[in-house]
Amino acid sequence: MLQEKLTILKNKTMSYNLLKGKKGIIFGALDENSIAWKTAERVHEEGGEFILTNAPIAMRMGQINQLAEKTGSLVIPADATSIEDLTNLVNEAMENLGGKLDFVLHSIGMSVNVRKGRHYTDQNYDFTEKGWDVSALSFHKVCQALYQKDAMNEWGSIVALTYMAAQRVFPDYNDMADNKAYLESIARSFGYFFGKEKKVRVNTISQSPTPTTAGQGVKGFDGFINYADKMSPLGNATALECANYTISLFSDLTRKVTLQNLFHDGGFSNTGVSNEVMQAFAKE
Ligand SMILES: NC(=O)c1ccc[n+]([C@@H]2O[C@H](COP(=O)([O-])OP(=O)(O)OC[C@H]3O[C@@H](n4cnc5c(N)ncnc54)[C@H](O)[C@@H]3O)[C@@H](O)[C@H]2O)c1
Repeated sequence: MLQEKLTILKNKTMSYNLLKGKKGIIFGALDENSIAWKTAERVHEEGGEFILTNAPIAMRMGQINQLAEKTGSLVIPADATSIEDLTNLVNEAMENLGGKLDFVLHSIGMSVNVRKGRHYTDQNYDFTEKGWDVSALSFHKVCQALYQKDAMNEWGSIVALTYMAAQRVFPDYNDMADNKAYLESIARSFGYFFGKEKKVRVNTISQSPTPTTAGQGVKGFDGFINYADKMSPLGNATALECANYTISLFSDLTRKVTLQNLFHDGGFSNTGVSNEVMQAFAKE
């Protein structure tokens, strides 16, 4: 009993009121495993208010309504590839939250080639374009809708999630690798204008493999996540830990961090090899 209580206390994250009075939009909470779901819960705990949004098709699962209830937020459906949906979302968000926004999370990814089992060397380019639009160009569309509506407060923060396959080869990550490279470039390019004109930060977080619907879609995910865990000095970063890192980027404590791709991976990206991985290859 006592042990149970201690475990609960240990797993509970502290709240610091870091986002008190701040307002924003969170894209991509599909179910309780989603990184965006954990982020919404943490933003709520830190005192932030937000609109939840996802593709109309994802609404059918209905789970987002539970999150909305729990966090006292409104759900506004928007297909992140539709300029019309995004413009409507930004207008309605400002109206419902009563002013400009302080933070936006883009937590969206999908490859049709991966879903349909098309190998990287045998892509269907209609699938490629669709996946690029959803996973990469949508970030430009979100930024442009916010920029043109002048929807961000000064010192606001925009974050998108990415993966290290943008820099290094992970063969089964398929065309998502190219989409992530494009996404990270948008953060730098749009971040320049957002910084100059509006004093707004734009960054990407490059997260460890994480067991979510999108993550598990990657072929051989189990081997992949275990390998990353054994390679990383601190082990893989969880979805909750990613949420916590995102909170820090939404807070006023990181005002001069912008145009960055920030690795949140327990040290994986700078590790050549770990003892655990070497042992797996050592001769008896
Ligand atoms: N899971 C991982 O291993 C991992 C690692 C690094 C980065 N990421 C990135 O994190 C982000 C969030 O993914 P996740 O792992 O939480 O998985 P997830 O499947 O829970 O989230 C992906 C979200 O994208 C949404 N989406 C798809 N098409 C859309 C559209 N047209 N308009 C609006 N939303 C749309 C889905 O409905 C879903 O909510 C993605 O960008 C993903 O690439 C994930």
